[in-house]
Amino acid sequence: MNRTFEAIVVGGGVIGGSIAYSLAKRGMEVLLLEKGRLAGQASGAAAGMLGAQAELEGEGPLFLLAKTSRAMFNGLADELKIASGIDIELVNKGMLKLALTDKEQQEHRRILEVHRQNNERAELLTGDEARRREPAISSEVMGAMYLERDGQVAAPQLALGFLKSAEAFGSVIKEDVEVQSFHSSKGIMTGVATSEGDFMSANIVVAGGAWSEVLLSKMGLPTITHPVKGECFSVRTETPLLSSTIFTSGCYLVPKKDGRIIVGATVIPNTFNPQTTVKGISLLKENAKKLVPSIEEAEWEGAWAGIRPQTADGLPFMSEHPDYSGLFIATGHYRNGILLSPITGEVMADLIEGKTPSLDLSSFRIERLIRRKN
Ligand code: FAD
Ligand code: GLY
Repeated sequence: MNRTFEAIVVGGGVIGGSIAYSLAKRGMEVLLLEKGRLAGQASGAAAGMLGAQAELEGEGPLFLLAKTSRAMFNGLADELKIASGIDIELVNKGMLKLALTDKEQQEHRRILEVHRQNNERAELLTGDEARRREPAISSEVMGAMYLERDGQVAAPQLALGFLKSAEAFGSVIKEDVEVQSFHSSKGIMTGVATSEGDFMSANIVVAGGAWSEVLLSKMGLPTITHPVKGECFSVRTETPLLSSTIFTSGCYLVPKKDGRIIVGATVIPNTFNPQTTVKGISLLKENAKKLVPSIEEAEWEGAWAGIRPQTADGLPFMSEHPDYSGLFIATGHYRNGILLSPITGEVMADLIEGKTPSLDLSSFRIERLIRRKN
């Protein structure tokens, strides 16, 4: 078999998938290696919110990246359906960010101004107005901010949609192959050593999520991220309980196209242990009940967890290694990797092709980590 490629992508999650897809669409011969199952880690565990406004502050480089990425989803849903047959289940019904306290209402008013100054749509609702939109929400809810442009997708389908579409454009995708180390000569990348032998390429992309640091520590970058576990559960109801996604800082409920509601998520730093705990799921159930009391009657489906890759300053890394030409890094997307995946694929493909990326990536360079240590 061919063991030389124009690019090798390490990691079969949504970030690796999106990069492989963008490169393959541009005509590059790509090999993607996944040590376990495709979409088997964080990307398969995610709730799928496209919460550019609900989850981010509303200005700065990360917000610009997020809103550009969010705007790509309509076209992407069609593209991936055509290339792979996979429906990413895009829902454009907005998100309702709820306030249960005066302090939260004040915070909503502040954030509303930021959104408006950035020409983003946002609307404040009273508790009754919110309940007219979503009758299932609690009488305790004092108010809400409606964010019409924040949608959601089915996260595992998005990751698989990218990966299968990359394959349709000629990429080779292998599960159960672990990248163990790299080959380079005089600071120029030449390939990877894996559990199935060597594969050669001058362009290697590390998109290994929370596990990227294990590989990158072999290339002089010891702790670029830390793992943050998130637990979720899902339920089913006979008739739909919600139409929009419900969001607060402690809990969210995401009504899926297939009748499920995903409830998430805990935030447990510094662990790679993917087990769910009674404590975590109980906390989520209590929080969800405060927002939507009738969730208690819903049919239980299951619980799971994923490990998010977090960075010290909250910004992802999308960058070439400063000392190794051809070694690219795309990780640290933390709580927004699903939202950020389309733009990440495009800008990383620009970097790999040696083009000026469509967005300024200076805030996402790996050099900022090195600067902080000196
Ligand atoms: P992963 O999906 O973890 O993929 C990395 C892959 O690389 C893994 O499959 C791993 O096995 C593989 N790998 C690692 N090392 C190697 C190696 N040496 N060789 C071969 N393969 C390797 N984001 C949103 O935008 N919206 C949400 O609503 C949302 N909800 C979330 C809810 C939960 C509970 C969690 C945990 C996360 C959520 N996120 C959400 C965040 C999002 O899931 C992540 O940011 C995103 O999935 C990261 O994608 P990734 O491809 O970098 O990592
Ligand atoms: N963005 C939702 C989460 O990470 O839980």
